[in-house]
Amino acid sequence: MNILVTGGTGYIGSHACVALLEAGHDLIVVDNLYNSKIDTLEKMMRLTNKEITFYQVDLTNELAVDKIFSIHSIDGVIHFAGMKAVGESVEVPLTYYYNNIVSTMVLVKACLKYNVYRFVFSSSATVYGDNTVPFVETMDLLPTTNPYGETKAMSERILIDIAKANPTFSVSLLRYFNPVGAHESGLLGERPNGTLNNLMPYVTQAAKGVIKKLKVFGSDYPTVDGTGVRDYIHVMDLAGGHVAALNNIKKGVQIYNLGTGKGTSVLELIHAFEKENGIEVPFEFVNRRPGDIAICYADVSKANKELNWTAKRDIFAMCRDTWRFEQNLVK
Ligand code: NAD
Ligand code: UFG
Repeated sequence: MNILVTGGTGYIGSHACVALLEAGHDLIVVDNLYNSKIDTLEKMMRLTNKEITFYQVDLTNELAVDKIFSIHSIDGVIHFAGMKAVGESVEVPLTYYYNNIVSTMVLVKACLKYNVYRFVFSSSATVYGDNTVPFVETMDLLPTTNPYGETKAMSERILIDIAKANPTFSVSLLRYFNPVGAHESGLLGERPNGTLNNLMPYVTQAAKGVIKKLKVFGSDYPTVDGTGVRDYIHVMDLAGGHVAALNNIKKGVQIYNLGTGKGTSVLELIHAFEKENGIEVPFEFVNRRPGDIAICYADVSKANKELNWTAKRDIFAMCRDTWRFEQNLVK
């Protein structure tokens, strides 16, 4: 199929592009490079020996998006593009609502105009809020604690309403848990342009000595060792989930959790990283981070069954591949 991938030079998008190319799809990538680098494109093509059509376009630019749809015969869209820094979204909510919601609306408008009926959306486990684990797709959603999370919940609602009104439209809402790791080649990985947000990039910064100590947010959660528990998923397993979602897309809206179904605490992740890579990760305990929940992991039975997809790589592979990519960056 001819797939339009938005945010395809970003962290998850680039890994998914490799998986999609390997599965035989042709790709048109659209990204404004706000949080990614153009050389990622050449790396994806080198890894797969395939060509990619690329447009440096902002998805809020309706005319530019319409033009892309008018040039190419598109069979489906995977919409990764979005701003994702939780803390930043609290400081500049309008920027987040505008970018994430308007991009989605512009894209769907073009899909309806040009009869593109397959739409896969990057949602997040954050839409579950502080529900009881494991999070299941049928749960009522709880408010998230930040504008970023609200843009995901709102985009889901917008897509659900549009699918209701357009019975030929097929939407797959993929709720990612905590993506980490990098492509096994060490060529692709997470390379954010701005400040870091997530745990794994801070673990590598502490291991490299760029920061003195990793700050562990909270040691008194009701968890196995007092630190926060998350469902970390290898980015290449997540990438495979998109190929599966596209292959199994159905009319109407389907929602899938993409995770491993297994929780890992911050301390467990630090120790796995140290053991796998033979390097120390200095850390200190600090106060809880506002807005964090104690435990988050997925019920993945729906994706396992309906998409015939399972995350295979363990926490050690996640730590190994992250570190390999990081080592390659300094070479
Ligand atoms: P990323 O920042 O690495 O990639 C997003 C890409 O979208 C970037 O290349 C950026 O330049 C591009 N982009 C942003 N706004 C754009 C616009 N208006 N027009 C064109 N391009 C634009 O982020 P990622 O980690 O790869 O995340 C991909 C998607 O998955 C996002 O929607 C994110 O919210 C979602 N998600 C990520 C996580 C995570 O922990 N990484 C978890 C759950 C959901
Ligand atoms: N943590 C630390 N120190 C850090 C960073 C994080 O101890 O420097 C802890 C957090 O308190 C949490 C765990 O590590 O317990 C994971 O934190 P992340 O920031 O890596 O991830 P979150 O679970 O908070 O959120 C991430 C993405 C969201 C997404 C969500 C989906 O940032 O965008 O996963 O579950 F919505």
